[in-house]
Parts: sequence; C-alpha cells; structure tokens
Amino acid sequence: MPYDGADHTSEPLYILNRSGNRPSHEHAPLFFDMAIEQCRAAGFRKVLLRGDTDFSLTENFDRWSEDNVQFVFGMDVKPNLVALAETLEKETWKPLRRSRSTTSMEKRLCLCSEWLVTTIKSDTHLLLTSTIAMLTLLHLSDLHFGPPYLPQVGEAVLRLAAELSPDTIVVSGDFTQRAKRHQFEEARAFLDRLPPANRVLVPGNHDVPLFRVVERLKSPLGLYQEFIEGRLNYSVKGNGAVIAALDSTTPRRAITNGRIHTAQLDFCSEVFSGVPDETVKIVVAHHHFAGAPDYEWDRTMPKAKRAIDRFVDLKVDLILGGHLHRAYIGNTLDIYAGRHRDRGIIIVQCGTSTSHRGRGKECEKNSLNIVCVESGKLHVTHYMYFHDRDRFEPVSRHTFPRPGRQFNES
Ligand SMILES: [Fe+2]
Repeated sequence: MPYDGADHTSEPLYILNRSGNRPSHEHAPLFFDMAIEQCRAAGFRKVLLRGDTDFSLTENFDRWSEDNVQFVFGMDVKPNLVALAETLEKETWKPLRRSRSTTSMEKRLCLCSEWLVTTIKSDTHLLLTSTIAMLTLLHLSDLHFGPPYLPQVGEAVLRLAAELSPDTIVVSGDFTQRAKRHQFEEARAFLDRLPPANRVLVPGNHDVPLFRVVERLKSPLGLYQEFIEGRLNYSVKGNGAVIAALDSTTPRRAITNGRIHTAQLDFCSEVFSGVPDETVKIVVAHHHFAGAPDYEWDRTMPKAKRAIDRFVDLKVDLILGGHLHRAYIGNTLDIYAGRHRDRGIIIVQCGTSTSHRGRGKECEKNSLNIVCVESGKLHVTHYMYFHDRDRFEPVSRHTFPRPGRQFNES
C-alpha cells in the first residue's frame, strides 16, 4: 500500500483478479512497482509497502531499499522455522545481496505493454484480470534438423522459450531437412526440451521424403507421425483459443507448394462452429496462403483465396505459417481484398528459427514470433537472433485489432 507519511491512499490502485489456483504473491512485485511509480508521479515522497505476502518478494528488497521505498511484510511464523532461526549463532547472519532477474510473467506482460500503459493512463481504478494476456503463443518454424540446423541458435530458442513460458507453442512445419529417421529423432529431442505448453505441430514439405520415392508414395508422413505428431488435421483448445492444425503437404502431387483441400476447410468449419467471438480462432499450416509482399514473388498454394474466403466467413483471427524462410506479419487484405472487404485475417509467417536457410530479408538469419492476445487486440512481437549476443531479441512489434473489432485506445 503506498504511504504518504500519515495516511494511506485509501483506495485500491490495482486489483488483480487471479484464478483460484494461483499463489497470492504471483505478479505482486510488478504491481508494487507500478503503484510506486504512480504514487511518485502524483507527488508522494515516501512510499511504504505493506502486506502479508511471503518470502517470495525478498529478491526485490535490495532494489526497493536503494529506491528509498520502505516496506513491512509479514511471513508465516511456522514453529519449525522459528526453531531453526533460534539455533543459529548471531555471527551466522549476514546481509544478503542478490540481483533480481525479471520473472517470466513480467516478460510476458511486457509483450502487452502498449495495452497496459494505455489502460493505466485511462483509469486510476484499474481492474486487471487474469486475462491480461488471454494467450501467449511462441511461434517457431522450419527447424530443419539435419545439415542446415544451427545448434547454437537452437539452444537460444530453448533459453527464450524457458524464459517466456508460453501457454502454447506452435511449430509450423519442416522439422527436418530430408525426413530421415535420425533427423526426426533430433527434432523430437529438441521438442522434449521445450517448456510444458499446448503444442501445435504441423508437417512441412521437408518432412516428406523427397528422394525415397516408394516411401513417399506408401507412407509419406510415417516418420513424422512416429516422432513428431500422430495427428495430421486436428484442433487444440485452451487459454481462450481454438487452434486448427492443418496438414498442407501434398506428397504425391505438388511436393513443394502444398495444398488445402475442401475437406480440410469443412473440418475448420466444424472446429470453429459455435465458438464464441471472444475466443481466438487460429489456423496453423506450413504453407503460406498469402505471399509476403516483399518482391520475392512467392507462389501461394493453389486455391489459397478460396481458403481465405472460408476462413474470413468463419471469423478466423489469425493464420500462422512458415515455408517462406522469412517473416511476414500482416493481413490478408494486404494482398487480397476478399469477400468481406472490410475484414481480413492477420497473417503471421515465421522465418526459419534454427537453420541457415533464411531467405530474402532474413537470408542466413533466424527468427521467431511471440503472439500475445487480449480481448480486443492481438500483438505480434518479431524476434531475431543476434550472433554477437547469442540470443533472440525483439526487433518489432505489431498490434492489430482483433478482426471485426476496432482499435480502441481509450
Ligand atoms: Fe523450410
């Protein structure tokens, strides 16, 4: 509670409504920090934080002290803890200094910071619910295990994934370079090291054997289904989203360019029918429905416009894909007016996350996307890998109103 020396502010500055299964200290440092900032901006010189939250805040004590913030926090007086403390010699006590690292939740909240700042400005009494981010999704693509795979970059992906702890991880195809057993084994080992999350995995054209013709005709996705994902067209629900995963490979016909069949569009109709407007509707497929408008002249899937029209009818919010080996974040309206000329679908194409096969503007570069959805808006943060820092860092952020909604900055 911010303190003015004689009285407290007498009003809640922030109310965080968590679900019942979350610990009471979760996000507390972030909201204390925002309260401190707000009180200082309002002219308060002294700030006292008070509460009965537990030792989970101790990592913040040093920096709050340095910032001239006072605090009184209670801690559970458990008999065994008291007994243990009593047995310690006086000299045992030493000042503890430790640096504070940003928590994964704070990093996740930063992804929605534009929304957060806007809301803070607009209202002193702020109700933040657990739907600050309905969905935080890590989008990877074109891993290309085999000769093109870059182990150092792969490790950086794993570190970032662990830091962000997303709700959902999408990998939009091309797990391997040549669909070989040992390449799938390596890809599976990589997936097993990602943090727990809903997984949405779809095959790419490189997950089909190109030169092993008999295998390609008889069981084109056999190894993919053995090691990566048994299902080819399926849906995943959770965290306020419904995701339709589609197999766009065509092993017996258009090996490279892919295809979405009418039956798959009917499957999407089934998946999305009756889903309320608040729920985010996402389609994931390896091949692109719209070429990136960057003069590389990509050929899209045959009848891609038919698919886009159907998705718009179904009020799909977002299409995630790969294949292009470079990112493109935009809207179907960038390249196709469509049946509903006022309402397109947000497109998020991912570059190759872990291979040296980047193309065009991402030639020999690696990228991934973080998609963060809240009630009216959708944020996409594009990350690139930087060799000198050996890490992925955000390079741009794109904010869209959810399709069919309007920007509302107030
Ligand atoms: Fe690829």
